[in-house]
Amino acid sequence: MSRDFDQRRRRFLTTTATVVGGGGLVAAAVPFLTSLQPSARARIASGPVDVDISDLRKGGARRTVKWRGRPVVVLYRTPEMIGELRENDPQLRDPKSLKAQQPEFARNEYRSLRPEYLVLLAQCTHFGCVPIYLAAGAEHNLGEDWNGGFYCPCHRSRFDLAGRVYKGVPAQLNLEVPLYRFSGEQKLIIGEEAV
Ligand code: FES
Repeated sequence: MSRDFDQRRRRFLTTTATVVGGGGLVAAAVPFLTSLQPSARARIASGPVDVDISDLRKGGARRTVKWRGRPVVVLYRTPEMIGELRENDPQLRDPKSLKAQQPEFARNEYRSLRPEYLVLLAQCTHFGCVPIYLAAGAEHNLGEDWNGGFYCPCHRSRFDLAGRVYKGVPAQLNLEVPLYRFSGEQKLIIGEEAV
């Protein structure tokens, strides 16, 4: 009887210790998980973003997505739009993008992996307003020689169709080109490096 009692007591104590131990693990895991969740969320928020560009077919067609809380615009450029970029060079502050912080492939007049798709952070390099796209010939008062590009309504900075800043405006730097790569013919990933 007393032997049975001892065995039952031992089983009870073992089970209790296991449950308490498990509870301790759970208790220890909760703060761990709690601390993990925001950083996991941050990782997702700051992670790469897939963009489907299959419907960007006409000159000036564009898509804006959010990456790391900032707007990124993808603009489709026709061969004519690309061909006119060089004409802007004398009017630009940094035509070869030597000063702007950006990937190496953007240090030329196209500033893109494929000339037809421009990918830019849509944040003015003056005080961070969002520049708007203005096509050549659209109604505006930017002068007759406006070849199309981006215009910042906050303090009137102007950027060409490669996001290069014009001389004589408050912004000093070209719009930033983020890291990105093509993951398919009509798909790109913003935030990942091209290999
Ligand atoms: S914020 Fe764009 S010109 Fe000032």
